[in-house]
Amino acid sequence: MKILITGGAGFIGSNFIRHIISEYPQHAIVNLDNLTYAGNLENMKDVEGHPNYQFIRGDICNRQLLGSLDFDAIINFAAESHVDRSILDSFPFLQTNVIGTQNLLEAAKIRGCRMLQVSTDEVYGSIEKGLFTEESPIRPNSPYAASKASADLLVRAYHETFGMDVLITRCSNNYGPYQFPEKLIPLVISHAITDKPVPVYGDGKNVRDWIFVLDHCKAIDAVFHHGKSGEIYNAGGKKELQNIDIVTKLLALVAEKTGKDKESLRHLITFVKDRPGHDRRYAIDPSKIERELGWTPETGFEEGLANTVDWYLSHRLWWERIISGEYRDYYKTQYGERFSE
Ligand code: NAD
Ligand code: DAU
Repeated sequence: MKILITGGAGFIGSNFIRHIISEYPQHAIVNLDNLTYAGNLENMKDVEGHPNYQFIRGDICNRQLLGSLDFDAIINFAAESHVDRSILDSFPFLQTNVIGTQNLLEAAKIRGCRMLQVSTDEVYGSIEKGLFTEESPIRPNSPYAASKASADLLVRAYHETFGMDVLITRCSNNYGPYQFPEKLIPLVISHAITDKPVPVYGDGKNVRDWIFVLDHCKAIDAVFHHGKSGEIYNAGGKKELQNIDIVTKLLALVAEKTGKDKESLRHLITFVKDRPGHDRRYAIDPSKIERELGWTPETGFEEGLANTVDWYLSHRLWWERIISGEYRDYYKTQYGERFSE
């Protein structure tokens, strides 16, 4: 099968392609990615030249390009993915996450092929108690979440209207190798290594459910190969933590692995102005995918987090190159005022 994987030069997409290439020698992969600030061909260095792998630089919003490609299925990872950026400027989010998804649906419709939409638990909004199930209403609170929810609605509509073979996965917060250093975990690790202040939004008590990226990849694999057409599958790590606790854990891990003083690293924690509309808690119920497809998160949180810290320590050039480039301007816009307050 020839699978069109979009956004495969990003964090989760690149981990997914590596997983598919090693597990399914019968699949050929076409990675379509337009290399935004978050796309990085270095993420794919180890599969470049593999006979089952092809990279195409291109935009999922380009209908003509999509019409010219040959594939038997689509898995859509391509997105603008950072909530903070969607607050600064939501236009690219609507363009890629909504219009881009619609273009892919059209391309899949023409070819009569299966399409899996990689979505997020953020479409459900915030939950005080209990867990999000696939039946929970969608109540997105950030422009990012609203764009992902809109895409999910389009996927649903194409299934109902055209009988298309579609699937949706909704996963919680991922962590692991190749995550862009704007996201909480790599941001904390890289700041701890370089002794920079660690910004914690609000009171630091917002809760996220964390999952190791390879477990998310395996969930997508299970849904793509065995999921029931038209269905939604939640995936999560069953590891809820307040932000301040995960930050403290990460600082302790960096101290342990580098010999830096633990107390000095703790002093890097800086409480800053909250993210507008900051969702208080995400908590996902993955029992449907566990029951129906036999998937379950396999990586223990302590093990996954330690491996992630090791990866950032041993791939310093990878993230230093990123933070010394255009990321600097974003960082100044996003955090300049926060720190000065
Ligand atoms: P990422 O930002 O690391 O990667 C996104 C990739 O998409 C980049 O390589 C980028 O170049 C590419 N891209 C962006 N716009 C494009 C366009 N118009 N055409 C082609 N390529 C384009 O994101 P990620 O964290 O790997 O997330 C991947 C997907 O998983 C997203 O759809 C996201 O909503 C979803 N998701 C992420 C998480 C998480 O914790 N990171 C959790 C659940 C779901
Ligand atoms: O839940 C899945 C979602 O997880 C994905 O759909 C998104 O693509 C992904 O970016 C992630 O969204 P979050 O907003 O939860 O992730 P982020 O790493 O930006 O933030 C995690 C928590 O940490 C959140 O409560 C905000 C907080 N935070 C984040 C940053 C960047 C801070 O306190 N300080 C920071 O500097």
